[in-house]
Amino acid sequence: EETQEIKKGLAGVVVDYTAVSKVNPESNSLLYRGYPVQELAAEKSFEEVALLLWNGELPSEAELTEFEALERANRALDSNVKAAIDLLPTSCHPMDVCRTAASVIGANHALAEDSSPEANLRKAQELFAAMPAVVAYDQRRRHGLAVVEAREDLGYSANFLWMTFGEEAAPEVVDAFNVSMILYAEHSFNASTFTARVITSTLADLHSAVTGAIGALKGPLHGGANEAVMHTFEEIQSTGVAPQAWLEEALAQKKKIMGFGHRVYKNGDSRVPTMKAALEKMSAHYQRPDLLELYSGLESAMGAAKNIKPNLDYPAGPTYHLMGFDTPTFTPLFVASRITGWTAHIMEQAASNSLIRPLSAYNGVDERHL
Ligand code: CMC
Repeated sequence: EETQEIKKGLAGVVVDYTAVSKVNPESNSLLYRGYPVQELAAEKSFEEVALLLWNGELPSEAELTEFEALERANRALDSNVKAAIDLLPTSCHPMDVCRTAASVIGANHALAEDSSPEANLRKAQELFAAMPAVVAYDQRRRHGLAVVEAREDLGYSANFLWMTFGEEAAPEVVDAFNVSMILYAEHSFNASTFTARVITSTLADLHSAVTGAIGALKGPLHGGANEAVMHTFEEIQSTGVAPQAWLEEALAQKKKIMGFGHRVYKNGDSRVPTMKAALEKMSAHYQRPDLLELYSGLESAMGAAKNIKPNLDYPAGPTYHLMGFDTPTFTPLFVASRITGWTAHIMEQAASNSLIRPLSAYNGVDERHL
């Protein structure tokens, strides 16, 4: 066996520069293009944050108006995208639907093989506009409900909720949803973003990179955790066991507790306080204090047992549940948001590309001959 230092999971390895976001685990902070994420969540729309991530600066009023018009004009799904979704069984995971839709949208794109900066920005903005329609279309078909067309008079978040549920959401629900989209938008070289950058580094097209990123996000160690958190809550509530007792049993079985822990943050995830505040508002709005009690009970039990803190998926899961989303749809909501960060990184990678191709140390059988 070759003896070399192995950086398993690339932990602690700095792979490249990025100007998109800065994660500082020491100060528990996350900056998008220099702005603290909690300030953006409090003051800005997700559309403004998307432009910030792509362009490096917040938009002027004219730039925002122009982008909002583009976004509203690109919400409808082409018939061939709907046909491709309809070919998938309603029993498949909604993440498979997102992954397939991203691929089909790419295959049908007039600029499919054009990876110029202009074409990539255009593709990113169109995917941003289309992904809510994909998620809503799929959620409604699973329930045998008629598709709800987009409303051009509504902004991104209000329209997303409208297309999914067929009724106008209360302003505080729209606000909480907008906050979640902003918090999920970008997080440096996480697994799915790195996947997108690896694919881009081969000079493959943007839709290939996004399709691969969606695959990486599906797993419960990454985006799939928001769905898994809800399964935990449901299990605890249905068995009626106290959170602390449930946790002791789960840890005794060496289970990973979903929604806790982070590769980068070891003292708490910078996004959690903002998302927890949104969850508190939703618990009050929907009059469901039980979920908050469970949230706190499991959080303090985990703190006492392992001193491990929640990550963003922990408050996001129950928030989406309260809004009425099906549990398997939570990670597709993460996709709709992270399209922005992924595509900002794809454009950054393409602008200063170097093929990403690490090395491995060999530990198979020694050379032998037939
Ligand atoms: N439950 C139980 N133990 C944990 C957890 C957890 N959630 N997280 C870390 N640990 C323990 C782990 O067992 C290990 O203990 P020991 O040293 O005794 O073996 C120690 O903490 C270090 O954990 P690790 O898995 O080596 O650390 P990592 O940096 O590879 O893990 C992680 C990061 C996110 C994969 C892990 O914390 C985890 O599996 N969490 C649950 C899944 C999750 O919530 N993922 C969402 C991540 S953040 C947002 C997102 O991307 O969606």
